[in-house]
Amino acid sequence: MAFKRPTRHSPPRPKGLSLSFSSKKPLSLGLDIGSHSIKICEFRRTSGGGYKLVALGSALMPPDAMEDGALLDPDAVAKTIVALIRNLKIKEKRVAFSVSGYSVIVKKINLEVMTEAELEKHIHEEAEQYIPFDINDVYLDCQDLHTNTEDENRTDVMLVAAKREMVDGYLNMLRSAGLKPVVVDVDAFALENAFEANFGLKDNIALIDIGASKMNINILSGGVSTLARDVVLGSRQLTEQIQRRFDLPYEEAEALKIGSRPADDLQADVARIFKETCRQWVGEIKRALDFYASNYPDAPIDKLVLSGGGSRIAGLAELIATETRVPVEIFNPFAMAEFNSDAIDPAYLKAIAPQMALAAGLATRPVEF
Ligand SMILES: Nc1ncnc2c1ncn2[C@@H]1O[C@H](COP(=O)(O)OP(=O)(O)OP(=O)(O)O)[C@@H](O)[C@H]1O
Ligand SMILES: [Mg+2]
Repeated sequence: MAFKRPTRHSPPRPKGLSLSFSSKKPLSLGLDIGSHSIKICEFRRTSGGGYKLVALGSALMPPDAMEDGALLDPDAVAKTIVALIRNLKIKEKRVAFSVSGYSVIVKKINLEVMTEAELEKHIHEEAEQYIPFDINDVYLDCQDLHTNTEDENRTDVMLVAAKREMVDGYLNMLRSAGLKPVVVDVDAFALENAFEANFGLKDNIALIDIGASKMNINILSGGVSTLARDVVLGSRQLTEQIQRRFDLPYEEAEALKIGSRPADDLQADVARIFKETCRQWVGEIKRALDFYASNYPDAPIDKLVLSGGGSRIAGLAELIATETRVPVEIFNPFAMAEFNSDAIDPAYLKAIAPQMALAAGLATRPVEF
């Protein structure tokens, strides 16, 4: 199976809103298998060409089921997915999921302009000069971004390589859960897809998803991904530090962190842990922005868009805005979607929306079959 980029991303990329793209191809379920929770989202197309949210939900990931993006306990994960799908009464079996972590490499390379067939051939023959893996051990995919550099005979190509063993682990797990995986994406691109489906990709934006154990940064300039980076930092760090600092079990530390247990006299210490960790995250974000600014000095970033459970930390958006001097928004991947408020509680939807970004991006993918 190859990584399938969204068909509407096929160059030349249509500018502006993609909600009304004419394709009548069906959509698959969007499944985001995160290290903290599994998120699922299902859309249906509306007659106006938009999306209607018909199902969404999440379930906690079984403990120690995943490490560095790879599945350690596929049976437990499959059971959790089956139960979640049953609870949500979802009938659709086709599923889109995404991967990230050490076993996935996303790299932009500059090549001579060539046809699609020549590009495929070149990548398969020359991949080893771009990626540190044995070519036989990876699934490879590439996409010509059609961005001319100074030289019109050259173009930028996005190359994706993912270890077969890791991807096959997901495919087998999903099949054992009775599902039909039809799309494999990369987290950073699923995020981009979710944003594009709602707001288009006109601006220069940095999409930043802060999960439990990783942060995905995807910086887009005029609709094209210029930098996609995974950083092994996330909200679990906070829980672990609270655990260590106060010698607490995981659940209690987690409750303190998300504010469901009052911190009382621990408040000052908890606040210090938050501040130090959030500064580390801001440091990573600034590094990515600096890298972007040095390569695209004439296209300054218009805004940062935060998602993931980590984005729910009170004061984080303000801290990032102050430190980077760029406006920060919290991502609502359902901003443009219709939904039935009798079936989906608007308050729940609002609260969970930033964590659903990847699942929503995956669920807007048209599938070929
Ligand atoms: N209000 C909150 N304040 C701080 N952290 C929160 C809050 N709500 C949720 N979180 C944290 O967000 C994390 C879960 O976010 P998310 O669902 O985006 O992670 P994930 O996708 O499972 O993980 P990853 O993408 O890193 O594999 C957990 O660590 C959880 O404690
Ligand atoms: Mg995540």
